Amino acid sequence: MAEAVLGGSAEDVSIKEAGLRYEVDGEIATITLDRPEKRNAQTFATWSALARIGDDLPEQVRIVVVQGEGPSFSAGIDLRMFTPEGVPGQGSFSSVAQLDNVSFEQRIEQAQQGFLWLRRPEIVSIAAVHGHAIGAGFQLALACDLRIVADDVKFCMKEPALGLVPDLTGTKPLVDLVGTAKAIDICLTARFVDAQEAFRIGLAERVVSGAELTQAVRDKAAELLSTNRDAATATKRLLQGARGRTLEEQTAAERVEQAARIKALFAVS
Ligand code: CAA
Repeated sequence: MAEAVLGGSAEDVSIKEAGLRYEVDGEIATITLDRPEKRNAQTFATWSALARIGDDLPEQVRIVVVQGEGPSFSAGIDLRMFTPEGVPGQGSFSSVAQLDNVSFEQRIEQAQQGFLWLRRPEIVSIAAVHGHAIGAGFQLALACDLRIVADDVKFCMKEPALGLVPDLTGTKPLVDLVGTAKAIDICLTARFVDAQEAFRIGLAERVVSGAELTQAVRDKAAELLSTNRDAATATKRLLQGARGRTLEEQTAAERVEQAARIKALFAVS
């Protein structure tokens, strides 16, 4: 296993400085939010580091686990962003608010890159969520393909209570998982969703005790790794596209993927 150090531009910081740990063990990569004393609060540096992990993900990796150290998965954005002083080296919302709209949206787009890669067809991402998953923490869990949760989990989309919208890629997966009405209820009340409700409404695939969480995620990873890699990638691509296609388009997409699979399996070029 190796801890990677991020390279890149002058404002880049190491994974550790960004509040993360990152380990690759064969086909499984594990990203740990690692600022437990601040309940794994996230900053622009966290999102930039996540994006660079995605960019540099070794080709052999098929499973990405995202988890949190300490009592919470993540308490969301670092609240220092709301103070005039902001986060050292990263500014504050009052400084970012001075940017013109195009630059402002580019800044958000950069942050979103830390989340979007977790949906790549070549990998399956699993959020192992315990304790609080608030705001950006909830959205990071939503950015993953699967959520396995501990029975103490508390999801909360806090942004509307703070005068903001959820903008870290979370609105679409939330609506896809629970439907528009339930998403409105969850977001516009900024209420907590506990483990039983999360399971019932389809936010969580499985609820286990905190002590069982790591093993439950390992077991799911092993199950996912038991299928053919290329078939898994092609199938995920099909499933991801299904909602946006008609039945006719989807069955055509199935034919294209299957033709490629059969040719690959039987070595016909
Ligand atoms: N940012 C910075 N520091 C945070 C933090 C955050 N989001 N959440 C917790 N901390 C810090 C606390 O200030 C405290 O630090 P000190 O020990 O130095 O005082 C430490 O973490 C422990 O916090 P608590 O004592 O509050 O821990 P708790 O276990 O009793 O409560 C909690 C945990 C319910 C998550 C609570 O800390 C909390 O409500 N945090 C704030 C949650 C929040 O409002 N987040 C913003 C979400 S919106 C968002 O994320 C917007 C976006 O994407 C744009």
